[in-house]
Amino acid sequence: MNQYDKSVSSHASINTLSARHVAVKVITNILLQQGSLSTQLARHQLDIASEHAPMLKELCFGVCRQYPRLNSIALHLLAHPFEEKDTDLYAVLLLGLYQLTYMNTPDHAAVNETVEACRILKKDWATKLMNAVLRRYQREADDIIEVLEAQPSVEFNMPKWLVKRFNKHWPEHLEDIIEASNTHPPMCIRINESLVSRETYKSQLADLGIGSEDGKFSESALYLRNAVRVGELPGFDAGYVSVQDEAAQLSAHILSPKDGDKILDACAAPGGKTGHLLEKANATGLSSMALTAVELEPWRMEKIESNLQRLGYSANLICADASNLEAWWDGEHFDKILLDVPCTATGVIRRNPDIKINRKPADIEDLVTIQRAILNRVWETLKPGGFMLYATCSLMPEENEQQIQYFLANQEDASEVPLNSLAPSFATEWGIPVSHGRQLFPTSEGHDGFYYCLLRKKAQL
Ligand SMILES: C[S@@+](CC[C@H](N)C(=O)[O-])C[C@H]1O[C@@H](n2cnc3c(N)ncnc32)[C@H](O)[C@@H]1O
Repeated sequence: MNQYDKSVSSHASINTLSARHVAVKVITNILLQQGSLSTQLARHQLDIASEHAPMLKELCFGVCRQYPRLNSIALHLLAHPFEEKDTDLYAVLLLGLYQLTYMNTPDHAAVNETVEACRILKKDWATKLMNAVLRRYQREADDIIEVLEAQPSVEFNMPKWLVKRFNKHWPEHLEDIIEASNTHPPMCIRINESLVSRETYKSQLADLGIGSEDGKFSESALYLRNAVRVGELPGFDAGYVSVQDEAAQLSAHILSPKDGDKILDACAAPGGKTGHLLEKANATGLSSMALTAVELEPWRMEKIESNLQRLGYSANLICADASNLEAWWDGEHFDKILLDVPCTATGVIRRNPDIKINRKPADIEDLVTIQRAILNRVWETLKPGGFMLYATCSLMPEENEQQIQYFLANQEDASEVPLNSLAPSFATEWGIPVSHGRQLFPTSEGHDGFYYCLLRKKAQL
């Protein structure tokens, strides 16, 4: 090993160690159900130097993405599972197994770091155990994995209950859903068409050596052949582009803001679709579109503010429970409403792999109840003759077509309309038609899983 190699490897080991230390905290909190991966990463990102951030992300996303496999391996290796008070040790073990199985970390370094992590946690009693477990895995990994592959959770790298649900609802799409949900999503950007055309921006990217391809369904979407940091995207700070999945971009194209429209974005944070609606309005030179964005969580509200600030737009921002009209609504009806409700996010597991750890079957019922309450109340704020776009990033029919079926059966003044009603030139060949609305499945090289249904309030007689 030459001097340069030595210095790189010593830096790599310092980076890994420090990122690893924070990763233990993040994974422990996720296992203890104390918030999502994105919340945890945001909270702990400042605990480490910025150059360690990519390693922290790799470790945390990696463990979550591979959790069903790693969890089965860990339980197979341990004679007794760790007690809840030692969840941090379980996180240490999962990280060690992740490094041994999926990273280029030399085996001895992965084992040493895992053992050292027990000392850092002041649980020296576990060092021998951890050493023995990882050394056994080193010796027997192939045999262990072969035995465990018989379990659906290991075969599909997905919790068993989710495999069963996907198979029950979408048997002919099962393999594609699983494959897409287990991959890294491609980087998709949204071009701000009020500032630059997709063609022009694409050639600006090409000049910088960044290859891209047009989205097939959203006219504002570009897929980058290789992910880049947002700072490398020309004009990012000036609002020329945003990072947004192609399926998510369909909302603004479907709602197609018109001059004079009063629009509500009822579950708005982090404001991706809010920004797109405002861009669309500006691209068509609309002067008098008014947008109100409602969001429940104050800390997520700040994300809408910073997103709009970057894009240079403003909206009427309200922090409130959208279903509590008494708290936020002034009684003026809206022409169009986007209702992008909280959901199981089962169409975006690849972006939120902690779903594999934390999502439970009972969440579906709970979320359906919340969605129903928001849908019923927010409907009151829609003008007769007005349109509401109901959206989720879920693959569960209970949250999608069945939710709408129940709504239509109980809401006499509601009807479903074709998704291109507001923009007839807008193609709707994406996804598949379901009993109400359209369902998109995640695709490996393309868009996320999504659901859309467009509703209209009957005009008063
Ligand atoms: C699927 S996300 C919305 C994503 C957003 N439309 C975008 O494109 O960036 C759902 C949002 O609804 C918010 N939310 C949940 N319950 C709510 C409620 N009762 N009222 C308003 N917002 C709510 C969540 O905090 C979350 O930010």
